[in-house]
Amino acid sequence: MNAAVVWFAESDDDRARARTLAIPTVETVPDTGFYLQSRDAGLTLCNADAARRDRGLRLDLCDGEVERRAAGGRRSPLARAIGLQRRPGQRVLDATCGLGRDSATLAAIGCRVSALERSPLLYALLEDARRRAAIDPPAWLAHWPTLVHADATAWLARVDPGAFDVVYIDPMFEAPRRKARPQKALDWLHRLLGADTDAAHLLAAARVVAGRRCVIKQHARAEPLAPADLSFGSKSVRYDVYLIPNRDHYSASNDFR
Ligand SMILES: C[S@@+](CC[C@H](N)C(=O)[O-])C[C@H]1O[C@@H](n2cnc3c(N)ncnc32)[C@H](O)[C@@H]1O
Repeated sequence: MNAAVVWFAESDDDRARARTLAIPTVETVPDTGFYLQSRDAGLTLCNADAARRDRGLRLDLCDGEVERRAAGGRRSPLARAIGLQRRPGQRVLDATCGLGRDSATLAAIGCRVSALERSPLLYALLEDARRRAAIDPPAWLAHWPTLVHADATAWLARVDPGAFDVVYIDPMFEAPRRKARPQKALDWLHRLLGADTDAAHLLAAARVVAGRRCVIKQHARAEPLAPADLSFGSKSVRYDVYLIPNRDHYSASNDFR
C-alpha cells in the first residue's frame, strides 16, 4: 500500500492550499511518516522516519539542473524524440509532470509546454517551485505557462484531437532492482505514489489527441508499453515514439541532420 502524506499547516494559506487539494492537515509536527511543511526556503516534503540530515525534499527548478539537461539542445535524445529539429516551437503536453524536470527542460529547448499532474502532493510541490521560480524567472518559464492538477487520461478525453503536437509521458514504473541506493526523491515518490500501472490507458488516450506523436520515457532496458515506431536513447533512458498516422511523417535524414 502507498504511504500517506499530511500537511503540517501553520497558516491560513497552508490550510486553504491543503483543502483545495484534499490533503489532510495536522496541527503538530508528526513524529512518524511523511508530511508537508511550509519553510522559509519553500514547501518541503518531510519524512519523520528518515535520518535527521535526510529529512526534507523540496523542488528547485532554478538550481542549474534544467540548464544542464537542456545543454544538449536539439540534438539530445529527448529533442529528437519530440521531433524538435524539424519543428521548433512544438506544443507539448507533459501528461505526467512529476518533479517538473522534463517540463522545464522541454521549455528550455524551445517547446511550448503545458503540464498535468494528478498527485495532490506533487502538484503542491510543483506549484510552490513554480511560484519561487517566478520571483526571478528564468527565460524558459515563459514557455511553460500551464500546470493543471488533473488525471491526464480523463483530461485528454475532453480535449480536441490536434490540440497538442506531442503528448509526452514519463510514468513511474516498478522500482528497478539495482544495487545502488536509489536517489532519495525517486525512493520517496515510489513509497508515496507507487507505480503508474495505468500507463497503457494513458498512451491510448494520448494517441487520440496528439497531433503528431506521443513519446514515452522508459528505462533503457525496459519492455516498451507497445511496439514503438522509433526509439532514441542514452545509456540509462529510452524514449519510445508513437507517430500519429497521416499527421507526422518521419524522415530519418531530417532527425540526424
Ligand atoms: C516518473 S514521474 C515523472 C517525472 C517527470 N518526468 C520529471 O521530469 O520530474 C511520474 C509522475 O506522473 C504522474 N502521473 C502518472 N500518471 C498520471 C496521469 N494519468 N495523469 C497525471 N499524472 C500522472 C505521477 O503522479 C508522477 O508524479
